[in-house]
Amino acid sequence: MTSEIEYNAKLDEARSYIMEQVPSLPELGIILGSGLGAFADLVENKVTIGYQDIPHFPISTVEGHAGQLVFGKVKGRSLVVMQGRFHYYEGYTMQEVTFPIRVMQVLGVKGLIVTNAAGGINPDFQAGDLILIKDHLNLMGENPLRGPNLAKLGPRFPDLSEAYNSEWRQKALALMPDYEIRPQEGVYAGMSGPSYETPAEIRYSRSIGADMVGMSTVPEVIVANHGGMKVLGISCVTNMAAGILPQKLSHGEVMETAERVGKKFVNFVEGLMKVL
Ligand code: HPA
Repeated sequence: MTSEIEYNAKLDEARSYIMEQVPSLPELGIILGSGLGAFADLVENKVTIGYQDIPHFPISTVEGHAGQLVFGKVKGRSLVVMQGRFHYYEGYTMQEVTFPIRVMQVLGVKGLIVTNAAGGINPDFQAGDLILIKDHLNLMGENPLRGPNLAKLGPRFPDLSEAYNSEWRQKALALMPDYEIRPQEGVYAGMSGPSYETPAEIRYSRSIGADMVGMSTVPEVIVANHGGMKVLGISCVTNMAAGILPQKLSHGEVMETAERVGKKFVNFVEGLMKVL
């Protein structure tokens, strides 16, 4: 585990490097999940920085993820877009998974939109639905804040009673029908992966309040809250979770649905720029 001093020094180096490249600092951060990569094409006056060029940034390994930060404006809002995220299942530590959120924090980002692909557990959902995240269950077996508290970055025992900002959720829900999205909310259960869940694990998740399940988001949202950011989360239900339907799960199905819904998802997130 790196010491607080070392960690702050790493963040400083990453921040300085980025500040040399970008003309204006971002107010909002967006993490693009599967199928949402095209959002980066909307960014105006963009400055793109590959993860491999940013001091101390982990390197993205998953196929289909570009692995870059895109700075610029959408609908007049100054953004930093993460195209490609780090997953715990890839073998990164929780600190590595959330390093980009810390970089956003030290760049002055005040709000974060997190998107992901998820399996639907709630029987009201179907593949292709976009669901607003109202809360989460951390079932990953780890917490990114474990270890010495980075006091400059946030409190030892951060409150998560509104981890997904309720004012932003109301605004996003109200906007959904304009994009032909049924306004639905759900609780996201974060799993470590990389295996999909068993039907028993899904029944268990349902019984403790989960509406959808995925392998990301929870670490980033915990760290964003620790750093005082407002968070909005959106899941794309790419498949129904194990045992909900009498069929097997495949990464192919997940990617196919994410592709199919991509355009609608991109348009909705663009629309959010005007209301959040
Ligand atoms: N389980 C976990 N993660 C996922 C799923 C799922 O069914 N679909 C997309 N990401």
